Amino acid sequence: MTQAEEMRSLPDKLHRTFFRSMSLLPARGQGLLLRHYFEWFHRTPDPWRHAVDPYEARKYATTLAHVEGDTFDRVLDVGCSEGTFTLLAAESYPQADVLGVDVSERAVHRAASRSKARPSGRTRFAAMDFLNQDPGGRFDLVVCAETLYYVGRDDRLRLASERLRSFLAPGGTLVLVHPWPEARRLHHFVDGDPLLVRRDEQVEHDGGRPYAVSSYRLR
Ligand SMILES: C[S@@+](CC[C@H](N)C(=O)[O-])C[C@H]1O[C@@H](n2cnc3c(N)ncnc32)[C@H](O)[C@@H]1O
Repeated sequence: MTQAEEMRSLPDKLHRTFFRSMSLLPARGQGLLLRHYFEWFHRTPDPWRHAVDPYEARKYATTLAHVEGDTFDRVLDVGCSEGTFTLLAAESYPQADVLGVDVSERAVHRAASRSKARPSGRTRFAAMDFLNQDPGGRFDLVVCAETLYYVGRDDRLRLASERLRSFLAPGGTLVLVHPWPEARRLHHFVDGDPLLVRRDEQVEHDGGRPYAVSSYRLR
């Protein structure tokens, strides 16, 4: 890595260290801190500019294209923030029940308001820490994007991976979307899960921030 690349990756390294230290706490304590942190982070609307950033729009389109041709009746978006991707998924699957969940109540409240403004399908949002709480029922598509790096150290990542798998209906599809090559570590426990079959992995070199879209099917 050049010195310039080293400098550019510094904020990411600090970010990962911050969330890794949170994961030293027992799961419930970590959940409580994550809730406070993301509630604070959503103090202004759309803090990551998901609704307006062309990079995010391309990533959402790539994610939906990745599973194009499949039909889904129950869709779950884990770590949905204000629901930008969730609402696009609802438009793509108008016949589906779509649920977006996020640890931040503020985020899901805004997501629900946006959903009322442009009703599409049967879309709901709920505040939930996916490490400790269940969304209710099983889903034939579960998407988790840009969220696993908040989970922290490996034993929590293993737990998170098992939790995501447990939300799937038999034959259901799990799609993970995370920065590349970090996705290798973030998707590692899902990759090694004997109950899941890897369908595909797509690496997109989009500008300065490549990402992987990885999909799996529950046996
Ligand atoms: C960077 S945003 C990604 C949003 C969306 N998936 C996307 O790609 O546009 C990550 C979201 O994950 C949520 N999150 C982090 N840890 C979570 C947890 N344990 N349970 C539920 N949501 C969580 C945060 O509140 C935040 O809104």
